Amino acid sequence: MSHKVNERLEKLRAATLAGGGNKRVEAQHAKGKLTARERIDLLLDQSSFQEFGTFVTHRSSNFGLGENRVPGDGVVTGTGLIEGRPVAVFSQDFTVFGGSLSEEHAGKIAHVMDQAMLMGIPMIGLNDSGGARIQEGVVSLAGYSTLFLRNVQASGVIPQLSAILGPCAGGAVYSPALTDFIFMVDGTSYMHITGPDVVKTVTHEDVTSEDLGGAKVHASISGVSHFTCNDDAHCLAQVRKLFGFLPLNNTEDPPRRTCDDPIDRLALELDDLIPESPNQPFDMHEVIFAIMDRGEFFEIQPHFAQNILIGLARLDGRPVGVVANQSMNLAGVLDIDASEKAARFVRFCDAFNIPIVTFEDVPGFLPGTQQELGGIIRRGAKLLYAYCEATVPKLTVITRKAYGGAYCVMSSKSTGGDWNVGWPTAQIAVMGAQGAAKVIFRRDIQNADDPVAAEAAKVKEYEDRFANPFEAAERGFIDDIIKPSETRRQLIRALSLLATKRTSMPAKKHGSIPL
Ligand code: HXC
Repeated sequence: MSHKVNERLEKLRAATLAGGGNKRVEAQHAKGKLTARERIDLLLDQSSFQEFGTFVTHRSSNFGLGENRVPGDGVVTGTGLIEGRPVAVFSQDFTVFGGSLSEEHAGKIAHVMDQAMLMGIPMIGLNDSGGARIQEGVVSLAGYSTLFLRNVQASGVIPQLSAILGPCAGGAVYSPALTDFIFMVDGTSYMHITGPDVVKTVTHEDVTSEDLGGAKVHASISGVSHFTCNDDAHCLAQVRKLFGFLPLNNTEDPPRRTCDDPIDRLALELDDLIPESPNQPFDMHEVIFAIMDRGEFFEIQPHFAQNILIGLARLDGRPVGVVANQSMNLAGVLDIDASEKAARFVRFCDAFNIPIVTFEDVPGFLPGTQQELGGIIRRGAKLLYAYCEATVPKLTVITRKAYGGAYCVMSSKSTGGDWNVGWPTAQIAVMGAQGAAKVIFRRDIQNADDPVAAEAAKVKEYEDRFANPFEAAERGFIDDIIKPSETRRQLIRALSLLATKRTSMPAKKHGSIPL
């Protein structure tokens, strides 16, 4: 290489690595944020990053942009490895034009997404951007559109993960929203369609960015985000952890690990876990911890719709998706948020060949005008649809209540459950004994000399018949009644048999899930 070319290349590389310059990098650090390249270094295995479009610059001369070009144009893109497995990544550089998206910035992201699809590897987006590059106008908006199209085409083909590590506003929020999982950093990231100033003008509300779209509100109220992290480093470590459960694409099985937790380990603590009283809650986390490999459960959306738990775990080293009713919150009922939370997860697991293990303790759907008028019928139907549609192995353990429509929804045998069992404490019925007795024995109770005693007797009669798993077992709606302590070994055996499950849905373009 001639001296001149070498010199020019070195200069270019130095400019690329400098991003928006020392002052802006210092400002980024002062906010507690890392730079785009520092983030990539933490996300990927050491020295595994291979960059695309390193020296690309924008072509616009609008509003003084012509004199201001930074190689890379505010986004770093390429491929690399996480625990030796390939992944594609883009990382927006807030120090260059606020990470704003120009035509070429979008082009770089589109290219790395195309490569991810071509190679069949997951796509991770590290977002930190002021949105559309204002100077470029419609060209920039069109750039977003090209990304939305790719997000949708990649959906269900390769896993797509989004980390929000700074601002993410306007229509730009829709690219992460179209991906499978969103990670946010508490205090430094936010997502909203319109910022506080516009909100003030339109609705006269005074609200901060944090209260409108900070990590806490999206984790606990809107349900937009899936993981809340303390800082950038924590966030990138969490992304790596999630990646470890996922297949590279929809034609592969999720990665199995060697399991150092005995597969026939008894979880004796479970035999006494269910309280005597059906109205007393218990923590379903205890069930999951006791059964899964090494007691590990990577919970997703732990702060949203806490009446249902979702997350990833392993059984004999095989990744499984866990869905479980949590009686500690709203008695474990299904409501709108819980249904939507679990439905999305069930569909994700199904798309990526992750078997679903359901732990059931559900007293029904939540009654009331708020839920009915909010559309519990169409929105609760999403979970029913998702379970019925899923063709991955579906294993269900009824730990306690399986009442009414919620029984049907939660991966019941008749909706295609592959292996459904009950603990001796399972109660499978149209409704709880108290409510049932009031309906079917109303006249007997009213006409009795002692209505209170009569009601108690009828409740007992109903409980003896249905507040147990035997009727369901006799009719084949559960395959077995198992001791809680044996659940781990039984689930592992069933899962291993189901590893060769092959089934498909009738040919169609796509279904029409009640959105
Ligand atoms: C061009 C931008 C920019 C943008 C920020 N910058 N946003 N340049 N286009 N959208 C530049 C700033 O001029 C500044 O340049 C540098 O980035 C850092 O910005 P600051 O304002 O100094 O940083 P900060 O105080 O941290 O505020 C960050 C911010 C603010 C909240 C993001 O910059 C902001 O409000 N930007 C505009 C956001 C916006 O309205 N975007 C359009 C959204 S609509 P210098 O040279 O001074 O360092 C949208 C539509 C998408 O995106 C449509 C999809 C369909």
